[in-house]
Amino acid sequence: MKTLLINIQKLLQVRDTSILKVSGAEMAILPSIKNAYLVIENDLIADFGSMDDLPEDINPEKCIDVDGKIVLPSWCDSHTHIVYAGNREREFVDRINGLSYEEIAKRGGGILNSAKILNETSEEEIYNQSKVRLEEVMRLGTGAVEIKSGYGLTVEGELKMLRVINQLSQNYPITIKATFLGAHAFPLEYTENRKGYINLIVNKMLPEIAATNLADFIDVFCEKGYFTVEETEQIMEAGIRFGLKPKIHVNQFNSIGGIQAGIKYKALSVDHLEIMNPEDIEALINCETMPVALPSCSFFLRIPYTPAREMMAKGLPLAIATDFNPGTTPSGNMNFVVSTACIQMKMTPEEAINAATINGAYAMGISETHGSITIGKKANLIITKPISSYYQLPYAYGSNLIDSVIIEGKIFA
Ligand code: NIG
Ligand code: FE
Repeated sequence: MKTLLINIQKLLQVRDTSILKVSGAEMAILPSIKNAYLVIENDLIADFGSMDDLPEDINPEKCIDVDGKIVLPSWCDSHTHIVYAGNREREFVDRINGLSYEEIAKRGGGILNSAKILNETSEEEIYNQSKVRLEEVMRLGTGAVEIKSGYGLTVEGELKMLRVINQLSQNYPITIKATFLGAHAFPLEYTENRKGYINLIVNKMLPEIAATNLADFIDVFCEKGYFTVEETEQIMEAGIRFGLKPKIHVNQFNSIGGIQAGIKYKALSVDHLEIMNPEDIEALINCETMPVALPSCSFFLRIPYTPAREMMAKGLPLAIATDFNPGTTPSGNMNFVVSTACIQMKMTPEEAINAATINGAYAMGISETHGSITIGKKANLIITKPISSYYQLPYAYGSNLIDSVIIEGKIFA
């Protein structure tokens, strides 16, 4: 099947295969082609260029005239907890009335609240609730997504979540990467026996997950009141032994050394980064680990934003993702994330789009196949409504400017 898009006002994020991420000053550059065409063959980008050079011998089965519309690679959301049960809207109101996220967690709310609901919900029901969210984010332009477990906190609960993630991956064309986050919080019965829970993760959960091939990555919530740096290292080390690359939650509320631990264990990404001291930024220079900011989490919790400008000024790359979860970010809208990165973190539209596409793909280990308009990469595309320029995307922050979404070469309706 060959599809031809013609009269594209601007084709954004055009890269050759050598670019797997962009860092520092390069983030300000968004290579693009004006008045362009693009050829899709099956699920891949087969060709593209200026309309002036449109080859005569294309013979498409389908030709779409997108006059006045902009085309860009679909969003790569590298950090979500889309699979969960129920919601936490009560805690939302509790926080409006003055309680903090930490205070709610101490009362048994927070992650443990979601874990209780999840363990009481059937696998089929969790699937049905989660697929609604997945379909919503696909319509909002997300073409690749990472989804974490972490609301089971029991062997059966964690496996149940990972099976749901795998089932979603089988039933939808979107690319899904699965992350095992058994180390999201200590279940109540283990608060006095932390070693016991870590043993359960390392000796029971991990072997089963590895045997069933249910996860790509391992995550830990490294934070005061959750997992210490030492515990985080122990769990990353075990995950690596079972073939899972680390991708960890660090520096959300406190800077306690999680970034340095992640780098030591060659984490693919370190995520959150709301609280950054100069040593944390320094540690990230010249390493392969991608820093990931989650601006809609900062927005929802009223906590600081990741210091993007300071980080890019030091030459660092940066990815942005949603963190879609019931507690701290009940939204999977990458368009809002791009806007918030521009408005609150003072990233330029070019920087934010790079962070949400090629660098997001890198943070999921898929930038060889996703995240840019490149021959041979997945035909995962956003076609905008007719707009004056791509600045509209972050500028008109409450509007849905997406006309249609193509995933694996097909329009997702
Ligand atoms: O990324 N910080 C840890 N995990 C989630 C929140 C989990 C929850 O509150 O349910 C996050 O923000
Ligand atoms: Fe998270």
